[in-house]
Amino acid sequence: MKILFAASEATPLAKVGGLADVVGSLPKALTQLGEDVRLIMPKYGVIDEGKFPSTTVIESISVSIMRRTETARVKQTMLGKVPIYLVENTRYFGRASVYSENEDLERYLFFSKAVMEFLKVSDWRPEVIHCHDWHTGLIPLWVKKLGLPAATVFTIHNLAYQGPFDDRWLAASDLGSAADRWPKKAGTTDMTIMSQGVLNADVVSTVSETYAKEILTKQYGEGVEELLRLRQKDLVGIVNGIDYDEYNPETDPHLPFHYSASDLSGKAGNKAELQAKLKLPVNPKVPLVGMISRLDEQKGLDIIEKAAPGIMALDLQLAILGRGREKYHLFLSQLAPEYPAKLSVTLDFNNPLAHLIYAGSDLFLMPSSFEPCGLGQLIAMRYGAVPLVRHTGGLVDTVAPLSPDLSEGSGFVFKEYDSGVLLETVTTAVVAWQKHAAAWKKLSPRIMGLDFSWRASAAKYLAMYGKVLRKRRALP
Ligand code: GLC
Repeated sequence: MKILFAASEATPLAKVGGLADVVGSLPKALTQLGEDVRLIMPKYGVIDEGKFPSTTVIESISVSIMRRTETARVKQTMLGKVPIYLVENTRYFGRASVYSENEDLERYLFFSKAVMEFLKVSDWRPEVIHCHDWHTGLIPLWVKKLGLPAATVFTIHNLAYQGPFDDRWLAASDLGSAADRWPKKAGTTDMTIMSQGVLNADVVSTVSETYAKEILTKQYGEGVEELLRLRQKDLVGIVNGIDYDEYNPETDPHLPFHYSASDLSGKAGNKAELQAKLKLPVNPKVPLVGMISRLDEQKGLDIIEKAAPGIMALDLQLAILGRGREKYHLFLSQLAPEYPAKLSVTLDFNNPLAHLIYAGSDLFLMPSSFEPCGLGQLIAMRYGAVPLVRHTGGLVDTVAPLSPDLSEGSGFVFKEYDSGVLLETVTTAVVAWQKHAAAWKKLSPRIMGLDFSWRASAAKYLAMYGKVLRKRRALP
């Protein structure tokens, strides 16, 4: 099967969030199943040309946008065995960041139009076009309008980002005539690009079974729940996997000590190394809680802020890595000096440090208010760090609540999104670590043995592509 992924980011070329990890690793898994998968994305200034040298495949395509004509060049590089088409246009993508403050509507409109122009002239013709998140939400519409024979899949990684705009932008962009219908987001005057992906793709998918159900409700539907309910018949949830080559404690080049489920002795060395690196007391007798996250409300920062005095009163160490909202940068950088022996805050994206935190932590904190899938908890389990999560979205599907004696389940789970409940759960986890050392010694290898590779989910995607393709072909 020939499958084209269209997306705004892919690890390791250009990464901002979990979307990049999925787009960078699922094609590899599908390729291993024998499929011809390729990816198309913008050629950002941040892509390392030394690591990803590219050759030109299409010298110039013309794209009409905002009542002008812009041109793009299509280049090609490789990610392992996966060919990647890069849409090059300096004005839109030459800068040294993936996203921009306020030009993204125009930038991804340009990208999506460029993908369509590419499809018109490319010799390689995909049978399935798999679009990811709002940036590529217009492609299914245009595929349909042009009558291209490809089936389209639109995957929602996060409904909180929809590419919203108003009437003025609709007029300026000349998009008005493109769609017959621009439904407004409930409770707002916004129209969104994402709604077109939901309306027009042959199949709409999201990244866990639970999130696929949650987004049909007002609580999680972000104003498009009614639209999603219209597509309920064609809405599926497939849980994400992680790249087991990149995340492997037996071979991870970022770790000073390697270890496995059958021999965990190296984990203690990584913990000591992490404590030293973060200038925390090097002490094996205190549980180390890791958190690697975008710092915003989705990830539970508001309840962490409220619970912080209580959490800091416990006998633990907390290592936080990530960036996000300015107010949480401020809060955490003021909190850290108050607890130099307990709290380490690194406001950064730092992949080597992230690997060491997964490997050195006993617990991994993820108290999200909503979570389409979540990858941190999967990586944490692969490294034997026990997840502490809220019962929502993909966290429901991947973390089973622990029994009190730790003999069953895989993590500490709480339901109500509340700082008091969070504190109670962290307390329970810390006490369990201290009181049930022997049971914990069995728990870590048990969660390391769970399978969160792409194996099962890639097969599910393949089955879904097959089904939608057959349906497409059966149409007149
Ligand atoms: C988004 C979601 C996250 C998901 C990721 C990849 O970042 O917030 O839950 O794991 O996309 O699908």
